Amino acid sequence: MQNEKSTLGYISYTETESFKRLRRLRMTEAFRSMVRETELTPKDFIYPLFVVPGTHVRKEVKSMPGVFQLSIDETLRECVDVKTLGIPSVILFGIPEHKDEVGSGAYDENGIVQSAIRAIKKEVPELVVITDVCLCEYTSHGHCGIVRDNQIVNDESIELLAKEALTHAQAGADMVAPSDMFDGRVQAIRRVLDQNAFHNIPIMSYAAKYASGFYGPFRDAAESTPKFGDRRSHQMDPANSDEALREVEQDIHEGADIVMVKPALSYLDVIRRVKDRFAMPTAAYNVSGEYSMIKAAARNGWIDEQRVMTEVLTSIKRAGADLILTYFAKDAAKLLR
Ligand code: PBG
Repeated sequence: MQNEKSTLGYISYTETESFKRLRRLRMTEAFRSMVRETELTPKDFIYPLFVVPGTHVRKEVKSMPGVFQLSIDETLRECVDVKTLGIPSVILFGIPEHKDEVGSGAYDENGIVQSAIRAIKKEVPELVVITDVCLCEYTSHGHCGIVRDNQIVNDESIELLAKEALTHAQAGADMVAPSDMFDGRVQAIRRVLDQNAFHNIPIMSYAAKYASGFYGPFRDAAESTPKFGDRRSHQMDPANSDEALREVEQDIHEGADIVMVKPALSYLDVIRRVKDRFAMPTAAYNVSGEYSMIKAAARNGWIDEQRVMTEVLTSIKRAGADLILTYFAKDAAKLLR
C-alpha cells in the first residue's frame, strides 16, 4: 500500500500523489480511535423503568423484548444492576392498581411511583431518580390530562401535574420530567416546587415532544393507550422544527433545567438545532418504537443488533444530545465496559 498508484492511466501520477487522502486516518483502529469525535459512555444514559404493584413481578413487555414491568422489589434489583454498570440515572413510570377519570394515582403520596422512589432512595441512594410526570398511565381514558366535552383541558391538567411533581419530590425524587406537552406546565411545577422548599430539584422538560407513531410499544408497557382520540392537540406535528425551538425557548423561560427532544431518530435535526441555539443540557429520548424495530430486525437476523444499537446511540450523541433516555442503556453499558 506504500506506493499505491492507479495503473489505469487516466490520471497522471503527480495528480494522484497530491490528493488529500482522507482515508489515511481510517487505516488502523488506532488512528480511528485517535480522531473519533463522539464517544459513548454509560454516563450518557438514563434507563426507563416501569413499576407495577405487587411483589416478584417481572413481566416482559411483548412488544419490547428485554423490557419488563417490575414490582418494587424487582425494581430495586434492577437499580442495583444499573448502578453497577455505571449508569447514573433511571426514569420511573408507574402503572397504578386503579385508574380513574382524574388520574388520582398520579398524585397519591402512597402511589406506585412515590413508593418506588422511597424504596430506591433507601436501597440505592446514589442513583439519580428521575420521575416521568404525566397522567396518561393513571387516567381511565388514557389521556395525559383532564378530559371535558371531549377536549383535553390545559389549565386544570397542569395543576394536577404540579401536584404530582410535588408528591414525587416529597418522596425523594432527584428530578422531575413533565412529558405532557401542555402549555405552562413547567412554570406551574417550578412554582409549586419552590413554594414547598424544593427549589433545588431540577426539571427536565419533554420540551419538543412529537405526536409520534414510535410510542406504540411504550403504551403497551405503560398501559396508557388513549381509549379515544389521540395526542395531537398537545404533542407536536412531526412536520415542524421552528416550532420546536419556540417550545424549547418557552420551557427554558419557565424554568426548565434540561430540555428534551423526543423521539430521537426521526428528529436528529431538531436535536442539533436545539443544542446549537440554546446551548442547554439537552436530552433525547430513544423511544420504544425505535428500540423495538431494532430488536425485531435483529431477531429476524436482518441486522447486527449490537452494531446498529451503537450506531444509533452514537448518532443521537453526535446530533448534540448530552443525555440519552434509552431502553438499550444496560446493553450498551455492558458493551462499553
Ligand atoms: C407520556 C409518555 C410517553 C412516552 C414517555 N412518556 C407516551 C406518550 O406520549 O404517549 C413514550 C416513551 C416511549 O415511547 O418510549 N407519559
